[in-house]
Amino acid sequence: MGGSRIGSAPEKPQCPLACFDLLRISPVRPQQQSDCILKILMTESSQSQETLVSLRNVCKTYRDGNVQALKDVSLDIAAGEFVSIMGPSGCGKSTLLNMLGALDRPTGGEVLWRGRSLGAARNLDQLRAREIGFVFQSFYLLPNLTAVENVQLPMFEGSLPRGKRVDEARRLLALVGLENRLNHLPNQLSIGQRQRVAIARALANKPALVLADEPTGSLDSQSGCEVMELLEKLNATEQTTLVVVTHDESVAGRGRRVVRMLDGRVEEDAALSLP
Ligand SMILES: Nc1ncnc2c1ncn2[C@@H]1O[C@H](COP(=O)(O)OP(=O)(O)O)[C@@H](O)[C@H]1O
Ligand SMILES: [Mg+2]
Repeated sequence: MGGSRIGSAPEKPQCPLACFDLLRISPVRPQQQSDCILKILMTESSQSQETLVSLRNVCKTYRDGNVQALKDVSLDIAAGEFVSIMGPSGCGKSTLLNMLGALDRPTGGEVLWRGRSLGAARNLDQLRAREIGFVFQSFYLLPNLTAVENVQLPMFEGSLPRGKRVDEARRLLALVGLENRLNHLPNQLSIGQRQRVAIARALANKPALVLADEPTGSLDSQSGCEVMELLEKLNATEQTTLVVVTHDESVAGRGRRVVRMLDGRVEEDAALSLP
């Protein structure tokens, strides 16, 4: 299992917005391509503390520059956890998040989703669209769409009729405190509000896992605090599993577990005691 190489790894991680491959209303895919991933999606566990995603001896080498960004990383993320990933710039945090979010494939080792290896899955769009929400430092909102339209984008992968999509987007914007900003364009919102729209969008398909890459990195400390409070609330009340990459110790301290990375390896993986 561990250390096995997975073939045909792409040279570079996909653009973060590749997770919005799901923005395209995809044609029906050949059965053989989707079988494997559907099996993964349909595997439900009755245990609340099931392991959601695991990395087993994961390595990632970018051929461009021959950089070993991840070196033999093993990690389990259980359902309902709030995990912070810390470490200096360039140590592999975003690469790790790309692995957890199936945005890129490892060059060694394997990624398991609910215990099943993703190595054989040829197409990971459905997994990402249905199970994983992404939040990035730069938000990646589409500038010509209003808040309520931006939040609906990931829902186009599903079969919700338009009315239900709009209702759900409104509900999510209310959840992040933006019920009065539904029809604002991104440039009519404050920076902190833009990140909250991005969080609402990440929650669009009720994902099991939300991955946030330096979500407070572009925010002032007050907005950063509000965004972290919001993520904490979502973890506590919606049981959303949360993995947050951050440089900021005060942000990391809000999680229940801190994984510290250095030079492509996990240096420390520690549970934090509750205050
Ligand atoms: N697409 C890429 N091609 C080549 N090298 C890359 C690529 N992406 C990241 N790297 C390199 O991999 C290492 C880890 O990068 P990254 O995961 O982005 O670090 P962090 O998020 O901790 O700052 C860095 O040395 C970076 O330069
Ligand atoms: Mg990074």
